[in-house]
Amino acid sequence: MVDAAGAATFRTPAEAYDRYIGRYSAELGRALIDAAGVRAGDRALDVGCGPGALTGELVAVVGAERVAAVDPSAPFVEACRRRHPGVRAEEASAEALPFPDAAFDRVLSQLVVNFMTDPPAGVREMRRVARPAGTVAAAVWDYAGEMTLLRRFWDAAAAVDPAAAERDEGRSMPYCTPESLSALWSEAGLADVRVSPVVVSAGYDDFEDLWRPLEIGVGPSGAYAASLPPGRRTAFKAELRRRLGAGDGPFRLTARAWIATGRCEA
Ligand SMILES: C[S@@+](CC[C@H](N)C(=O)[O-])C[C@H]1O[C@@H](n2cnc3c(N)ncnc32)[C@H](O)[C@@H]1O
Repeated sequence: MVDAAGAATFRTPAEAYDRYIGRYSAELGRALIDAAGVRAGDRALDVGCGPGALTGELVAVVGAERVAAVDPSAPFVEACRRRHPGVRAEEASAEALPFPDAAFDRVLSQLVVNFMTDPPAGVREMRRVARPAGTVAAAVWDYAGEMTLLRRFWDAAAAVDPAAAERDEGRSMPYCTPESLSALWSEAGLADVRVSPVVVSAGYDDFEDLWRPLEIGVGPSGAYAASLPPGRRTAFKAELRRRLGAGDGPFRLTARAWIATGRCEA
């Protein structure tokens, strides 16, 4: 299980996150918005907004005054506020949302459920602040399978450092399978639960473009890369490059996520 230490790895500069996992966030956000059925006129909440990529996509659909966003990371909330004026962005966790019952039509959370300190409590809070017949939806990476960057990352790490196998997010992350996500949604009291795959992609100028933000220590994988002593870091970097098949030119990587949706019963 990921503990609060996983969440702590997101108290990093917003720009470093943008250049790492954030490259996938806007496209994934549009897919999540589609799956959740967000439309003009809705009031929407982004739980674990990070620097605000999904928030921005919600603003494009419903307007800033109808969007709220929360995240426990101060630098991310500050970036979200700066990037999306008019959005109510607050420092808060999913497990204690600072909103009254039934305040939103759609409550969304992107790449966050697996980092929550208490995911069942977090999803129950998301349901509490959604109105009857409203939607609660989330996306989680397919860490064990087809999230190419993270899969290759942990396979390369284990190849040069067998002890890294236990940090592999494909093994350590909760709620990254359709079955476990579906059960989490149902146990939170949501109806019409569906989980479906979505594949997004990100472009890189070259391997160095991918590697640089990793050394800043964003997320559990970045924290691992940044913790390596120089010799082992060089070996890991070469192994990751080899496994990604990345050269000196541009390339793209695909990433699969699971999207869970459920309806609040009246
Ligand atoms: C991988 S980032 C996703 C950010 C953004 N949603 C996106 O898609 O780019 C995970 C985010 O979850 C936030 N987080 C961690 N624990 C949380 C919790 N208990 N409640 C809400 N957000 C949390 C982190 O601060 C971080 O911003």
